[in-house]
Amino acid sequence: MKELAVGVVGAAGRGSGFFGAFTHNPHTRVEALCDINEEGAKATAESIGVSKVYKDYEEMLDKAGVDAVVIGTPMPFHVPQSVMALERDIHVLSEVPAAVSIEEAKDLVRAVRQSKAKYMMAENYCYIRSNVLVREIARAGLFGEMYFAEGEYIHELKELNEITKWRRKWQTGINGNTYPTHSLGPLLQWLGDDRVVSVCCAGTGRHYRDPRGDYYENEDSTSMMCRTAKGGLVNIRLDMLSARPHNLTYCSLQGTDGCYEADRGFGDKPKIWLKSRSEKFEWMALSELEEEFLPEWWLHPPKEALEAGHGGGDYWEVVDFVQAILEDREPPIGIHEAMDMTLPGLVSRQSIEHGSVWLPVPDSREWS
Ligand SMILES: NC(=O)c1ccc[n+]([C@@H]2O[C@H](COP(=O)([O-])OP(=O)(O)OC[C@H]3O[C@@H](n4cnc5c(N)ncnc54)[C@H](O)[C@@H]3O)[C@@H](O)[C@H]2O)c1
Repeated sequence: MKELAVGVVGAAGRGSGFFGAFTHNPHTRVEALCDINEEGAKATAESIGVSKVYKDYEEMLDKAGVDAVVIGTPMPFHVPQSVMALERDIHVLSEVPAAVSIEEAKDLVRAVRQSKAKYMMAENYCYIRSNVLVREIARAGLFGEMYFAEGEYIHELKELNEITKWRRKWQTGINGNTYPTHSLGPLLQWLGDDRVVSVCCAGTGRHYRDPRGDYYENEDSTSMMCRTAKGGLVNIRLDMLSARPHNLTYCSLQGTDGCYEADRGFGDKPKIWLKSRSEKFEWMALSELEEEFLPEWWLHPPKEALEAGHGGGDYWEVVDFVQAILEDREPPIGIHEAMDMTLPGLVSRQSIEHGSVWLPVPDSREWS
């Protein structure tokens, strides 16, 4: 089997989080790195023994002989850099969210359709062990009809805003749910054959200023209510500004036959109630269902997965991306799943701007 040569852009930042998974994968090797921070890229390349280092992304695409790229650059580069690779039939694993505007989301969908290469969005929270377990229980039908889910991404990043300055514009400099995929991604996988058809976004007002004395454009906490095609409701809370400890992974699910609540830390444990397991309304630990429902790959993971970032998500998403290429099939978070996770947040910006009105979310499958 051919070994895939992988290029990583944004290699001195988030891109470096992918090295371990590609190095450990028997079908891939990290071939080239790219970053506008030349010093950082060179130092990183040296540390992992990669000799091809580029400052210019297109030069890497044209000269390094890569079969696939990982896009770990700031949000506004995801679409342009994905399109440039897809036009050259180079496979793309792109960081989240997939796009920063609906117009460029359409460009991306068009580019994927016209390319021979695969596109996958690297939504690593979909691969967190507990999220995978709940997904498998949902797929087995044990929650019954699922009609409510909620997710929270609470990550105070006022200081990080000043270091990674793009965040001050693209995450906290726009009102609405600017970073929805970590919460929405796993929930949509649980809900299965469903998608968000409309959203309504409201905020808490603004209570914090940046070091220059300006209020952040993003309200401190925003709540994006999502109506699904099957009539269900999903609520996504995003908060990157409030003074408080982090909670990046909280999520819950309610169906007619069961419910689930992730832990909120501080000694809490993920818990589940299933009608088929308990007549009484009593929680059981989610972990009690691991042996029965967790896929083998997460039941007995290699140490590289356990050591990988984001609860192992940074490892397993790479495994799925590589398998999709090798087996010539659609990746599990292909272009339309990526759009399902990204577009509600883009529409939420319009909703909050127009007084929290409900607005329809386009279905990328219908775009020509
Ligand atoms: N999935 C996750 O859990 C997760 C975690 C963190 C960040 N992210 C995403 O990863 C992306 C990067 O975030 P970060 O925190 O690493 O940001 P960062 O600013 O720390 O790193 C980005 C890197 O990209 C480089 N870069 C910027 N523009 C470039 C260009 N045009 N060509 C080549 N290199 C360029 C920068 O020099 C920097 O090294 C963001 O889109 C963010 O949303 C995802």
